[in-house]
Amino acid sequence: MRVYLSEDYKSMSRRAANILSAQVITKPDSVLGLATGGTPVGAYQQLVEWYQKGDLSFAETRSVNLDEYYGLSPRHEQSYRYFMQVNLFDHIDIKYENTHVLDGLAKSPVAECARYNQLIRSLGGIDLQLLGMGHNGHIAFNEPGDGFELETHLVTLTESTIEANTRFFGRREDVPRQALSMGIKNIMQARRILIMVSGEAKADIVCRAFRGPISTQVPASILQLHPDVTLVGDREALHKLVEAGEPVCG
Ligand code: GLP
Repeated sequence: MRVYLSEDYKSMSRRAANILSAQVITKPDSVLGLATGGTPVGAYQQLVEWYQKGDLSFAETRSVNLDEYYGLSPRHEQSYRYFMQVNLFDHIDIKYENTHVLDGLAKSPVAECARYNQLIRSLGGIDLQLLGMGHNGHIAFNEPGDGFELETHLVTLTESTIEANTRFFGRREDVPRQALSMGIKNIMQARRILIMVSGEAKADIVCRAFRGPISTQVPASILQLHPDVTLVGDREALHKLVEAGEPVCG
């Protein structure tokens, strides 16, 4: 694993955007696995800025998003499809038909998950998967205890994730209780992984994920077994990992 420590959120976002843009420049038709949450917003803003300057094009790029709330329409302001449009897709030249997000209104979650697994395969797999990390170590919506062997599946969110995501919905009772999510198996099959972490509240879980035992209780710990992981974080999120002896690149 390569670890890049940045002093603050802005420089961390720039570093992650650099890695994403290098992927797109060297392979314009890359399949990017994309993530939502607060952490990647700054990186998406940086990509938009470089696109607007003419330094970057996504005209051939394909994308698959990690997850979507089950029961939310793509037009709902808290849906992940809406998030991706507002934070990235509406501002760059990626073709709408090349962007893929799970359908939160699918009548059959089982059929929708099977369709998504097949879609990822038909795109030739994911070249670079961007990830954030939940406070309990979840990646996408793979919660503690979920099997590492799972592909895309319907998840029941934990209380801790519902709590963490209440800030976006305003009221706890408005947060959906279920989501459709790529599984750990889909994520581990990506050729490269870029994981972003920011803020003191993530410092303990980052340390447990990358220095502790590999366990379904900390879903992100499985990334220790992936051959090509880059961790980008700010000092607040990474200081405990560094104090525990993890070498950093910069
Ligand atoms: C949600 C998303 C995850 C994301 C996590 C962390 O639960 N499903 O993909 O990594 O939140 O979010 P944040 O970056 O806001 O801390």
